[in-house]
Amino acid sequence: MLAPTSKVTPLPLRPMASAAPPSISIQDLTVRFGEVLAVDHVSLDLADGEFVSIVGPSGCGKTTVLNMLTGLVPLQDGRITMRGKAPFVGNPDVAYMLARDCLLPWRSALDNASYGMEVRGVPPAERRARALDLLARVGLKGFEDKFPKHLSHGMRQRCALARTFCLDSPIMLMDEPFGALDAQTKLNLEEVLLSLWQEHKRTVVFITHDIAEAVTLSDRVIVMSARPGRIVADVRIDIPRPRHARALQKDHHFHDLYAHIWEQLEQGMVNAREAL
Ligand SMILES: Nc1ncnc2c1ncn2[C@@H]1O[C@H](COP(=O)(O)OP(=O)(O)O)[C@@H](O)[C@H]1O
Ligand SMILES: [Mg+2]
Repeated sequence: MLAPTSKVTPLPLRPMASAAPPSISIQDLTVRFGEVLAVDHVSLDLADGEFVSIVGPSGCGKTTVLNMLTGLVPLQDGRITMRGKAPFVGNPDVAYMLARDCLLPWRSALDNASYGMEVRGVPPAERRARALDLLARVGLKGFEDKFPKHLSHGMRQRCALARTFCLDSPIMLMDEPFGALDAQTKLNLEEVLLSLWQEHKRTVVFITHDIAEAVTLSDRVIVMSARPGRIVADVRIDIPRPRHARALQKDHHFHDLYAHIWEQLEQGMVNAREAL
């Protein structure tokens, strides 16, 4: 049974203005696909080095928001800046990781981890050194020469994580990167991501429908309503770092936050149904 939610302090929907410019700024983002209103006036600022998760029911527009940040989908309504610039495809400030590992089957783990750097013109010796280091950090030491078909699903996502961190981009966009993994493997990957991120601070937008995962990893969790996607809560995760995914499973405050976010999510679904 989950503990009551009394210890959770709600945040105002918009963070207070701070002196430093936001790393990512989304203002009044509205997206329509034909007649379908997918995203409705979403506004969100992320500070430099902040880890923010977005949770929400399937189809609420999470991937759409992320796609707008990549520049893959042209902006219709609203304003987005990424480190002061409008989004554009190939922005070197941005690395992207998806639920599918997207590894190239004809390349070894080492060559897959190096791939993004190759595209960005990093010299070979530096590529190799960085990829070897990151592969070791994600637990793939000894597997550098293996091809994706010889790696488990969890190992392939470790390799994709190494490739993403190798890019050294200050912004990382992650769309349910651990969504297809079993619970144990997912916890392992969360531990790896926590330790990498704690060492190489990046601004992260992490999409998930797993509240526990969002609480484990994030500084803030944004809750979206069912379609049309709106922000219904912005919850600060005041659990000290460094964090350990396994230890948090037994932490009372972790469960308070989980229950609070779950309530917000349910409320967002009820309100969206009533609005239909
Ligand atoms: N290219 C598209 N064309 C038409 N409808 C789309 C397109 N992309 C997304 N949608 C619709 O927009 C809504 C939000 O989708 P999406 O952002 O993928 O949701 P989520 O990632 O939260 O599951 C859904 O109803 C989806 O069907
Ligand atoms: Mg999605």
